[in-house]
Amino acid sequence: MLVQPYIVGITGGSASGKTSFLKGLLNAFQPHQVCLISQDNYYRSLHEIAVDDQGIHNFDMPETIDHHLYAEHIGQLRRGETVTQKEYTFNNPDVVPTLLTFTPAPIIVVEGIFVFHFRELSDQMDLKIFIDAKNSIKLERRVKRDAEERGYDLDDVMYRWKNHVKPTYKQFIKPYRAEADIVIPNNIHYQKGLNVVIEYLKAKIS
Ligand code: ADP
Ligand code: C5P
Repeated sequence: MLVQPYIVGITGGSASGKTSFLKGLLNAFQPHQVCLISQDNYYRSLHEIAVDDQGIHNFDMPETIDHHLYAEHIGQLRRGETVTQKEYTFNNPDVVPTLLTFTPAPIIVVEGIFVFHFRELSDQMDLKIFIDAKNSIKLERRVKRDAEERGYDLDDVMYRWKNHVKPTYKQFIKPYRAEADIVIPNNIHYQKGLNVVIEYLKAKIS
């Protein structure tokens, strides 16, 4: 029986498949067994995000994340306290943000592109998972995902990919691949890697 929650960190480049992998992971457990706390909900407000030399907001810099608050909330969950945080709606005016409630659980999943980069977060992790896919595959997936789910047009996605997403992957995400306990390749599918992680985590909380 676990006394302390087991903290699992999941990172990987944008559109590598983190959210998809997580859906599969959450499906394998009862809601009270796992708490997912995603980095997306710790983006700062639009007026606090710096613009690049073309005047375009750059959402791919670590400074865009309120990582002190994020780390504090993870610490609270670790101590068995419930946490609330406003949902991030990707600045989509059509979406009304809800207030998210994070309830302590035996497994806490911390997920996002910079969660290994911030020591305040990565130092709290018991298991580190890196989801890996080729850049060309990530780009193809991001174009489709951003059009369908985040309402961005193709030019916008391509500009951000070249000028923000790719450089940040190289500087702030890929270097931490070497620190991962498990690397899950997702050029084609992640299912076998997911099954291994599920069995491991089930054993941890049994
Ligand atoms: P991330 O959370 O890392 O940004 P997502 O899980 O949102 O990535 O994946 C980006 C897009 O790629 C989504 O539309 C998702 O459905 C798709 N995707 C993820 N993994 C695969 C896969 N193995 N095969 C096909 N499409 C995938
Ligand atoms: O889910 P994913 O890992 O792709 O989320 C991170 C990405 O979200 C970043 O690469 C960033 O460019 C994008 N983002 C965005 N619009 C925002 C905030 C983040 O496109 N308002």
